[in-house]
Amino acid sequence: MEKIVIRGGVPLSGSVTISAAKNAVLPIVAATILCDEPVVLENCPQISDITFCLKILSSMGADIRMLSKNKVRFDTRSLRIPKVPYEMATAFRASSYFLGALLGRFHEAHVAMPGGCDLGDRPIDQHLKAFTALGAENTLDGGEVSLYADKLIGSLVYFDMNSVGATINAILAAVKADGYTVLENCAKEPHVVDVANFLNSMGAEIMGAGTDTIKIKGVKYLKGVEYSVIPDQIEAGTYMVAAAMTGGDIIVKNVIPKHLESIIVALRKIGVTVEEFDDSVRVYTTGDLRNTKIRTMAHPGFPTDMQPQISTLLTLAKGTSIVTEEIFDSRFAYAKELRRMGANINVNGKAVCIEGVDKLSGAPVNASDLRAGAALVIAGLAAEGTTEIGNIHFIERGYENIVEKFSGLGANIKLVHTIDYSDNEIKKNA
Ligand code: UD1
Repeated sequence: MEKIVIRGGVPLSGSVTISAAKNAVLPIVAATILCDEPVVLENCPQISDITFCLKILSSMGADIRMLSKNKVRFDTRSLRIPKVPYEMATAFRASSYFLGALLGRFHEAHVAMPGGCDLGDRPIDQHLKAFTALGAENTLDGGEVSLYADKLIGSLVYFDMNSVGATINAILAAVKADGYTVLENCAKEPHVVDVANFLNSMGAEIMGAGTDTIKIKGVKYLKGVEYSVIPDQIEAGTYMVAAAMTGGDIIVKNVIPKHLESIIVALRKIGVTVEEFDDSVRVYTTGDLRNTKIRTMAHPGFPTDMQPQISTLLTLAKGTSIVTEEIFDSRFAYAKELRRMGANINVNGKAVCIEGVDKLSGAPVNASDLRAGAALVIAGLAAEGTTEIGNIHFIERGYENIVEKFSGLGANIKLVHTIDYSDNEIKKNA
């Protein structure tokens, strides 16, 4: 078992380089299934969600080669089995992208209901609505969703809510369908746009990604490309908040400042200085942190994936802050862990109420999901004393080299291997 151990209180300094966006790379890896030639991704981050995706593709017969640490070649022409192994599908949310990609190529897909971070109910009804509109039948048997279509025919899909997953899945299924598909009320996140750009670079005809309406003209053939995925706005935001919370001064490199706009606005409201350059931002504080109100919203609003981190920052702001979660039902599991560290943070329905305190103190805590884990790392960096974070497999799902990157910014942070005394291994060996 591994833990992250932090001796807090060191203001971060120096620079950190952001990796490719997890939520763009995952669907792009699934989208390689649609390509009729080999594809090279230049900057695949080494995170466990990507490892899962690569294993899934291999298990179905694809030829995957690591050309270097982050450069991966995908040849999915040898892929024959349109079925994701059950346990692999239930391990993470992005396995749902194999539904759209396999349906688009084979007109058939078998993928278990996806897993992923426990943020409340996360149905896939909008994904299925799009597949049905394109002509696919779906069944659910033994926890596995199966899709079949004689052929896929372009159609009009109106989503009942903004869903990143459903918008991308509909694009994947429609890109090789006959005729035109029109998707209305689409998610506009930068990763939706990047998936469309990737597919267009291979010859797809997708128009309007990043707006409410996406139009797709089905094509027959997608050619091979070398592609570089956009930087991760959430990873960048996490380092920006960490700099602010430790009273540091850092440069966050390899970012698209436009994608960080809502995070930058929130940080400035809290009293943090953010200077924007072409592909980097400088973040530092000169005085006290101020209380504020923040509400998560679909892009271009404040991202739900930054809610735990910004709430953590506000535990050290003067006065009372309210952070309201509008996307997911249950995304405050980190609050009780922050209370162990001395934070005054209380959940009230779909909001947290935070009374700023002068300091946090280190404690043993556990990550409950990916972004909650990142929030605890930030808290540990700012706290007095030692913080030990367990369940770090959640953090490894989405942050490449997080310990190395924070060490590079001067933090006293390390990965420690511990013995789990409740482990079956011990019982077996006893
Ligand atoms: C993606 C991201 C996740 C991010 C979220 C919102 C990936 C792998 N995950 O998740 O990090 O937090 O976007 O930006 O990219 N909904 C339905 N029915 C559906 C689909 C969604 O009711 O069929 C609801 C969800 O329960 C949620 C809201 O719509 O309340 C938004 O979810 P969605 O945008 O689909 O999130 P994910 O794609 O699961």
